[in-house]
Amino acid sequence: MATAHISADKGDIAKTVLMPGDPLRAKFIADNYLTDVVMFNKVRNMFGYTGYYNGKKVSVMGSGMGMPSMGIYSYELFKEYDVDRIIRIGSCGALIPELKLFDLILTTASYSDSSYAYVQSGEESNILKPALSLNNHIEKVAKNEEIKLTKGIIYSTDVFYKENMTFDKIVNEYKCIGTEMESFALFHNANLFNKEAACLLTVSDSLVTKEFTTSEQREKAFLEMIDLALKTL
Ligand code: HPA
Repeated sequence: MATAHISADKGDIAKTVLMPGDPLRAKFIADNYLTDVVMFNKVRNMFGYTGYYNGKKVSVMGSGMGMPSMGIYSYELFKEYDVDRIIRIGSCGALIPELKLFDLILTTASYSDSSYAYVQSGEESNILKPALSLNNHIEKVAKNEEIKLTKGIIYSTDVFYKENMTFDKIVNEYKCIGTEMESFALFHNANLFNKEAACLLTVSDSLVTKEFTTSEQREKAFLEMIDLALKTL
């Protein structure tokens, strides 16, 4: 039973799916952390794999960049594949000087000026939240593992390159600490189907200091986030 964008059968995908933006990161997780791995999707190279971590069944799949892409895949996973929870594991840009490169963030809410939620379902709120129970669980695991987590509101945007790159209103009025491009669509789709979602992010660049990380550095920071996400299973 394939969907428009995923070539899997229903039982092929676990109840919990970890979603990095980059499908090659999904492959990296499958190759390095999971056992008994089966690839369930390669349509458009948006690789998806199911395997086991410490005996627990889990799937990993790329979301692609931006809300239209995350919107499609999370919708099909929740609706057609009976997925119960999706944890996004992505990167973000820092909007406040206190956030340093490689810091790990747990998203407490997603503010967006995107039309995604309104166009999808008529949802008028521009602030959407992850599942509190899932966030609490992630926090508890991070504490046990002595992994430092910063909690905060994230600005989820449709536009990476803006002509006006000032974020004063987003920081001062909406209290956002970082920016990425997928969590708002993910949280909306989870709410739509009464499912759970969470969003972990590592800081890959700073819009305050204009620092950025190399892809090798990002890979290393990513490992801590993968560890945390897998240990929540
Ligand atoms: N802006 C939007 N999305 C991002 C960024 C950014 O600076 N960094 C990582 N994802």
